[in-house]
Amino acid sequence: MSKVPVANLSPEEAKAELARLAREIARHDALYYQNDAPEISDAEYDALQRRNAAIETAFPDLVRADSPSNRVGAKAAEGFGKITHAVPMLSLGNAFSDADMGDFIDKVRRFLNVEEAAEIAMTAEPKIDGLSISLRYEQGKLVSAVTRGDGHTGEDVTANVRTIAGIPLQVDDEDFPPVMEIRGEIYMSHEDFTALNARQESKGLAPFANPRNAAAGSLRQLDPQVTATRPLRFFAYAWGEVSALPANSQMGVMAAFRRWGFPVNGYLRFCETLAEADDFYREMEQKRASLGYDIDGVVYKVNRLDLQQRLGFVSRAPRWAIARKFPAEQAITTIEAIDIQVGRTGVLTPVARLVPVTVGGVVVANATLHNEDEIARKDIREHDTVVVQRAGDVIPQIVRVLVEKRPKDSKPYEPPQTCPVCGSHAVREVNAKTGKMDAARRCTGGLICPAQITERLKHFVSRGAFDIEGLGGKQIAAFFDDGLIRQPADIFTLQVRDAAALKKLKDREGWGEKSVANLFAAIDDRRKISLDRFIYALGIRHIGETTARLLARNFGSWEALAGACERAADKDSEAWEQLTAIDGIGEVVAASLVEFFDEAHNRKAVAALLEQVSPEPMAAQSLASAIAGKTLVFTGKLERMSRGEAKARAESLGAKVSGSVSARTDLVIAGPGAGSKGKKARELGVKMISEDEWLRLLDQEQG
Ligand code: IVH
Repeated sequence: MSKVPVANLSPEEAKAELARLAREIARHDALYYQNDAPEISDAEYDALQRRNAAIETAFPDLVRADSPSNRVGAKAAEGFGKITHAVPMLSLGNAFSDADMGDFIDKVRRFLNVEEAAEIAMTAEPKIDGLSISLRYEQGKLVSAVTRGDGHTGEDVTANVRTIAGIPLQVDDEDFPPVMEIRGEIYMSHEDFTALNARQESKGLAPFANPRNAAAGSLRQLDPQVTATRPLRFFAYAWGEVSALPANSQMGVMAAFRRWGFPVNGYLRFCETLAEADDFYREMEQKRASLGYDIDGVVYKVNRLDLQQRLGFVSRAPRWAIARKFPAEQAITTIEAIDIQVGRTGVLTPVARLVPVTVGGVVVANATLHNEDEIARKDIREHDTVVVQRAGDVIPQIVRVLVEKRPKDSKPYEPPQTCPVCGSHAVREVNAKTGKMDAARRCTGGLICPAQITERLKHFVSRGAFDIEGLGGKQIAAFFDDGLIRQPADIFTLQVRDAAALKKLKDREGWGEKSVANLFAAIDDRRKISLDRFIYALGIRHIGETTARLLARNFGSWEALAGACERAADKDSEAWEQLTAIDGIGEVVAASLVEFFDEAHNRKAVAALLEQVSPEPMAAQSLASAIAGKTLVFTGKLERMSRGEAKARAESLGAKVSGSVSARTDLVIAGPGAGSKGKKARELGVKMISEDEWLRLLDQEQG
């Protein structure tokens, strides 16, 4: 360790030393948390942290974005097992104004097909800024506690959660269902947070940046005895799998939670009207500062559970709930430089490197500038003083420039004409369809641009894709730089090649015998992968998670999809028609698929990958259903349910809904005024039923 006293360091030396300390502390964290093999004593580790903190105090301008003192708590690569949620844990849509709330209710009304003036009663409660958790009780006993994770699979933190005083380990009430998953938020109060930080500091340990990080760090302790000393609290607000619900309204279930001994927030309110809901938001805005714990908004839920059931979900959020967020927090800082990031599709994104500043309890060092039009519109320049804001988990943004503080010699921003990574031309294309110039400038280096290749690999291992534990963006970038991984298939041959290599993975910095063994196990675990994840992982332009799922459900197997996409290169083919007839797949998406399969390099990379992994045919969600796998068309006016609801119900039963009638249509549901689609169905001899028959069909299907 450098012996120079902090007071004698020059800014250059301080900067270099902070960089070195960040690297070194990260390495010891990995050794300690991931490999269980610390190389230094706790006292030596604390000394590193203390020196880092002392330099940061003397040079506050030099605090790094990845400063060890802002660490959320090291990621435990192996401490916790994974558990798949019986019912996924979802996120919430956001509202930021009374108008957004009005839109939310309008959508609910339209979906439920109720009149415009009808009030929809809701519950309202604070949105707690903590970590969500799912507590599973069987026969009244707490059997597991699982974090949200990616919504489908989370970490098993049961041993830690059992130490939280407010969470019942056993519920003996007679009406407590045999299977009951209670969901809610784990958080830390302001008072407890301040006391914990004081204790940390007195031990020479780094303090936590905010109560949320403190709660997260405490919950993710590998030793439950440590968690037990941390003052964690819990509020219940939702549920997952339940054998029988205790009530038919949100309010009723929350009352049962309370009766059973679960903490429910005291500000839970029943709002008969939208006006009451908006008033409650303002009340919470007033109370926010004096609650004693962090909240970041108000959550509203449609009260009647039968309506919640009908409204269902879009993608990852329920249609029956919304989070109204408090306005974003802002701060002032300066832009040190405008850098360019190259994405996996070659898009060049300008990013502002900021002098680090704390916004709402989190240190912000970068802000996306979106694209050059946006920079021009706000006239953002290097060395400008700017207002930055951060709202929830959203990427920090630059709101405006304080022009009066602009340096005299400032020059407008000039976009690069070449890719900063591979040097290829960077161009803005004209969209053939609209005749307008694309907002994005793209690197034309395609398959030769290292930035694009690494970004594609990072996407391949990301959460919604292969999600390989221990193989994140950082590791991918390092393996790519060393030539170990150049294409997805290489990930799966890593172990075999490592066995023959002179320089073994376990000898690399940050790795050890145990973590390498875990990595190989995690990779092997993914040799079988669901079809939708496989499709999404390929990073085909315009194919996000939802579209990937849609394709998987429609084609059922990789072979079927690949075959169709290759044949669809001919736009007069049946395959092209079949592809574009899928509701949710437009011509842009279809063309992007065709383009991907048309590229020999892509076919080769996929073939190599398929030697290593097998995408599993999509488990038909409800094959028992009489309409599963069928193509339905709705036409005319539906009187008992909105189009949106009809479509959602059909899809939940595994049917495809198409906008036009063709020879491949299995069933047309026709209301009054069916017009040309009804005519076409009759001509083609497609079966037609009325809305009443449709409702009967649904009743049969859903019991
Ligand atoms: S309800 C299906 N209620 O906010 C509805 N969520 O942005 C599930 N959260 O992941 C969520 N307070 O971690 C609900 N009173 C509250 C909440 C709340 C905080 C969190 C939760 C969720 C996130 C969504």
